Amino acid sequence: MAKFEKANSVGEWLDQRLNLTAFNKVMMTEYWIPKDINFLWAMGVLLATTFGILIISGIFLMMYYKPDIHLAFDSVNYTIMQEVKFGWLFRHMHAVAASVVFLIIYIHMFTGIYYGSYKQGREMIWISGMLLFMTFSAAGFSGYMLPWGQMSYWAAMVITNLFGGIPFIGDALVVWIRGDFNVADATLTRFFMLHVFLLPVVIMGIIALHFYTLRVPHVNNQDSEELDFDAEAEKYLSGNKKESKVIPFWPVFISKDLAVMGIFFIFYFYLVFFHYDFAMDPVNFDPADNMVTPTHIYPEWYFLWSYEVLRGSIFNVGSLKAGDIGLMAFGFANVIFLLLPFLDRDPKILPAHKRPKFFIWFWILMIDLIALTALGKLPPQGIFTYLGFVAMVSFILLFLSLPLITKSDAKKRGDV
Ligand code: HEM
Repeated sequence: MAKFEKANSVGEWLDQRLNLTAFNKVMMTEYWIPKDINFLWAMGVLLATTFGILIISGIFLMMYYKPDIHLAFDSVNYTIMQEVKFGWLFRHMHAVAASVVFLIIYIHMFTGIYYGSYKQGREMIWISGMLLFMTFSAAGFSGYMLPWGQMSYWAAMVITNLFGGIPFIGDALVVWIRGDFNVADATLTRFFMLHVFLLPVVIMGIIALHFYTLRVPHVNNQDSEELDFDAEAEKYLSGNKKESKVIPFWPVFISKDLAVMGIFFIFYFYLVFFHYDFAMDPVNFDPADNMVTPTHIYPEWYFLWSYEVLRGSIFNVGSLKAGDIGLMAFGFANVIFLLLPFLDRDPKILPAHKRPKFFIWFWILMIDLIALTALGKLPPQGIFTYLGFVAMVSFILLFLSLPLITKSDAKKRGDV
């Protein structure tokens, strides 16, 4: 056993037992971050903060929410919104955070794509990030069901029905997921369990993994410069702070993060107090009714692009029905981002503005995703149907062409 001496303070006592000084160095004061990064690199910490807001506001909501199809709607819209002191505040904070978290996730993801932060040793950061995207999506979907309004019910119906398209096991799988032949009480209680327990626990585990995957390759920088972190850290520690290309996470880098967080909070609380309605669909203020289908069913804004990929297919091809093609395109859209590190054939990490063809690819992808999102909200009628088809086909072609485009950029530079 190690030798323990009499400690002169509580801190020293704890340090002897838990080695807090070394832990603090590794995690904070000697965790090195490149100097050359902008506000977009604060999104990771903003995501962790927003997840914290979701957990805290969710705990308060759970104290009054009733996971029962006869009680759920009133427990949210009457008990929490009208009877519980500040219940409305926690509901608005939770709903707005659930929407805003996806905005930040998309900014964080596309920053990674723009700067090529997903390859050359950073693949595991990307893959763990995509796992977070998937688990957040599942959390968003399961949470949307809980108020048991019309949109909760019908969105659950549409999404669970999708599994029916899987050959051979589809029909049985739908019943297994729902726990009933229809979306019913058993569906609500299991989605409640997923939303308040299993998914948050899994998300916490994956966040820890995501942070761990950053340790070896370190965070990228604006010029994608390959840094010798040990040499740069030595410069910093020897007092040569100006020349060193790195800064410690604590207290230097975090001060930048806190400044961005301050601005984010102004925006977030402005939405919570004055524009919470954007995160709440008016149709969902009608209680769920399995006899009345809403005229137009659509998901929350952050799923609209993939929903439009699902709906975009309008032609049968041979024996394949348009609906089946849509389902395959939807499957493609949901896994293709995960494969990005392996589709990009450029061996060098460079920001998009230094990869001419990739730069064009990136902005076309942005425009296409915005178009898909806008079309996903519109009814699939007339011209919108054809535009949706073009946007869906473009999305698939963009990803199929990525290996060629990235290789061509690298060839032009003489890197392959
Ligand atoms: C709750 C979700 C997430 C949290 C808390 C989180 C947190 C972080 C943090 C703190 C960083 C380091 C600083 C920064 O670049 O912001 C980071 C980096 C990164 N994250 Fe995430 N992240 C999340 C989701 C995602 C998602 C969905 C992706 C996309 C697939 C992703 C991909 C990346 C990449 C590629 C980096 C490296 C950036 C670089 O090297 O410059 N993350 N993440």
